[in-house]
Amino acid sequence: MTTATAPAPAADASEAATLAARRIAGLGARVRPCGLYDALGAPLYQDLATYDDPETRALLSGVRTAPGPVLDLAAGAGRFTLPLLAGGREVTALDLSADMLDLLRSELAKAPASMRSRCTVVQGDMSAFALGRRFPHILLGTTSLSLLDAAGRAGLYRCVLDHLADGGRFRLTALERGDDDGPDETAVRVTGAGGTVYELYEHWPAGADGRSVTLLPADPPADDSPVTVCTDRVGVIGPDVLEAELAAAGLTVLTRELLTPPGERHRVTLLTTEATR
Ligand SMILES: C[S@@+](CC[C@H](N)C(=O)[O-])C[C@H]1O[C@@H](n2cnc3c(N)ncnc32)[C@H](O)[C@@H]1O
Repeated sequence: MTTATAPAPAADASEAATLAARRIAGLGARVRPCGLYDALGAPLYQDLATYDDPETRALLSGVRTAPGPVLDLAAGAGRFTLPLLAGGREVTALDLSADMLDLLRSELAKAPASMRSRCTVVQGDMSAFALGRRFPHILLGTTSLSLLDAAGRAGLYRCVLDHLADGGRFRLTALERGDDDGPDETAVRVTGAGGTVYELYEHWPAGADGRSVTLLPADPPADDSPVTVCTDRVGVIGPDVLEAELAAAGLTVLTRELLTPPGERHRVTLLTTEATR
């Protein structure tokens, strides 16, 4: 994501719930609905991906503390995989979405052969995978844990323990609301790397157990052509709940690092964990 305007607060909660819905309703039959990671949505998601951000830097510097291969879970188009490969690591990139992995494969096709040869791309479910090997580093960034329900998270923790080498580290990020009195819904305009301007709506009342995201081009042509509208609803699991859940599953949190400035709406925490001894 290259630029963003300040969030526009909605007047009240009832209006907030309808901002994105009203925008979609205004487009009528032109709407082509999709998810954020499918064939229509993946290119939009990728256009907005950031590479030099605090989360990427923190995950990469964590990995630098020990040598060895990395398992990048929910790797998508390779926001972490690609810099890890560039830094000389062997990386297994696992993701459920064939469309996101296609984007990764096309990035790999442009990369030097030496980099490509160190990457294994796996289409799989992070809550149920068996790769038959162990890794000193397992990553789950972009707060993607929130894409799983409780049963999915339990499966993920089991799989992580089955794939973590002795003394290995599982690093993951958690998202919670960091503004106490912010609006329920925000609407921002963001410009993708390709120059397209998007409208990004997020409906996330304080204390809610989930948030809804809607993404669409801000200035579709003034004709009857289809407009891609990506929507996603994901759960919210803050670091305190997560730490307790990880402990119950056999993963001890060694450190917690706040990656965002105080008061920011999206409060992101990096948890570094190891298998409980
Ligand atoms: C927020 S994106 C993050 C992608 C990438 N790590 C990044 O930072 O750009 C979430 C990713 O999780 C993937 N995903 C969703 N559910 C999954 C699952 N059960 N197992 C593996 N990947 C999943 C999606 O396809 C998507 O690529």
